[in-house]
Amino acid sequence: QIVILDFGSQYTQVIARRIRECNVYSIILRYDTPAEEIAAMQPKGLILSGGPASVYTKGAPQPDKAIFDLGIPILGICYGLQLVAQYLGGKVEKGQKREYGKGTLQVKDSFCALFANLPEKLQVWNSHGDKLTKLPRGFKSVAITENSDYAAIENHAKKMYGLQFHPEVAHTPQGREIISNFVHNICGCGKLWTMHSYIDQAVEAIRNQVGNEKVILGLSGGVDSSVAAALLHKAIGNQLTCIFVNNGLLRGREAKTVQEVFGRHFKIKLQYEDASNLFLKRLKGVTDPERKRKIIGKTFIEVFEAATKRAGKAKFLAQGTLYPDIIESVPIAGNPAAMIKSHHNVGGLPKKMRFQLVEPLKSLFKDEVRELGLELGLPREIVLRQPFPGPGLAVRILGEVTPRRCEILREADTIVVEEMKTSGWYYKIWQSFAVLLPVKSVGVMGDERTYDYTIALRAVESQDGMTADWVKLPYDLLEKLSSRIINEVKGVNRVCFDISSKPPATIEWE
Ligand code: XMP
Repeated sequence: QIVILDFGSQYTQVIARRIRECNVYSIILRYDTPAEEIAAMQPKGLILSGGPASVYTKGAPQPDKAIFDLGIPILGICYGLQLVAQYLGGKVEKGQKREYGKGTLQVKDSFCALFANLPEKLQVWNSHGDKLTKLPRGFKSVAITENSDYAAIENHAKKMYGLQFHPEVAHTPQGREIISNFVHNICGCGKLWTMHSYIDQAVEAIRNQVGNEKVILGLSGGVDSSVAAALLHKAIGNQLTCIFVNNGLLRGREAKTVQEVFGRHFKIKLQYEDASNLFLKRLKGVTDPERKRKIIGKTFIEVFEAATKRAGKAKFLAQGTLYPDIIESVPIAGNPAAMIKSHHNVGGLPKKMRFQLVEPLKSLFKDEVRELGLELGLPREIVLRQPFPGPGLAVRILGEVTPRRCEILREADTIVVEEMKTSGWYYKIWQSFAVLLPVKSVGVMGDERTYDYTIALRAVESQDGMTADWVKLPYDLLEKLSSRIINEVKGVNRVCFDISSKPPATIEWE
């Protein structure tokens, strides 16, 4: 495995993902993890990430200096390069101006293993204020850019490397090869990390943890809980009970699909809890978005707790926690990851619940979870589906949630999903959905005047849901969506398209 020390770069997780795409396992540790602890993990290489600080300012994050004597290959990226340089006697200074954006890298030493099998000229992405002005001891410059004579440096004997640009981002098109060269050729890692091989490992770990005890999993039908269910079932079969709660706010066919896929196809013990009437009763007359969320969250916990009792005595509760949920963010100014994570965790369960946790996906990134799901034989419709909020259609029905409004939105949503899939857009973007506005407007249908609801369409692109851009869907697709919704969904006579980005808007309307 490769260890990445995180100095607070917004790209640290991207580095970890790129390495794993090279079929090498990688983990992220805090920048000040003791060298001894790192050595105990026996990594084959160490990467020092970028970061927002300046190496020469007081209090700038510093690694344990002993890491430089571990004798394992080190690659410093941006701030990481500056740390290597500073420690080994180079000089880092504030550049004339911040270098940000595309640059051209000219490789001077084609024997440098980092650039093996790559052309002499590469497009690279820069994002830094400080630059190296004097080489550290024992290093030579192996590549330059317009603004730097030390864009890539090497100490061949010590296997230490530094890159001023960011090989991990998509704007460095051949960055993947550079990373692959580091992990395979320089560190000597084999291509052992695949989801196919992860299954065996994970199955064994689950069996060791659980023994003969029973496990309960809250199955929502979303990607994470679905993959967790399939994996746990492979490991422990009937010791697993999945509880699926119908809160009355699900999409069309959702409850049926879950029953078909998990109950009938996978033959997983599935406890179906239809609590739709209870949820809708409690939501009656409530219009405030926060109150709606609170009611749904609280009711879910109640229903789920009661269901676990009916499921019989279980020692473990499984959760679909992912790696990004547990990576500790570096608490320094300028680190975007240090901002508060998403506030949405309506499906979260109270800590007081008397279970021990099983989290079989907690070392995986989302794209790996998807790959794992496909390996486990889950259908693409489940594994590649778009995110759907825990409080379901309630946050897409503005104002009061009534059974009639749920029905209207569910029908409109089904059309949106169908058309997005047919046109090929569904899997290309982060989310696409319909929102029911509590506004009625006048229309004509045939010879009759109508006074009906308005549906807003929302389609967004995003990496992680924290920021988002609205998607420029083609007019003919919008036309199809609008005409199908107005013609097929009784109670709707107008369709609008939401052209706001996040921020300042949010993705959901409530
Ligand atoms: P917003 O609306 O805050 O949404 O821009 C960002 C992402 O989070 C999803 N979302 C939720 N997910 N429970 C969830 O599990 C929630 O209460 C919730 N609210 C929003 C939203 O769909 C988007 O992907």
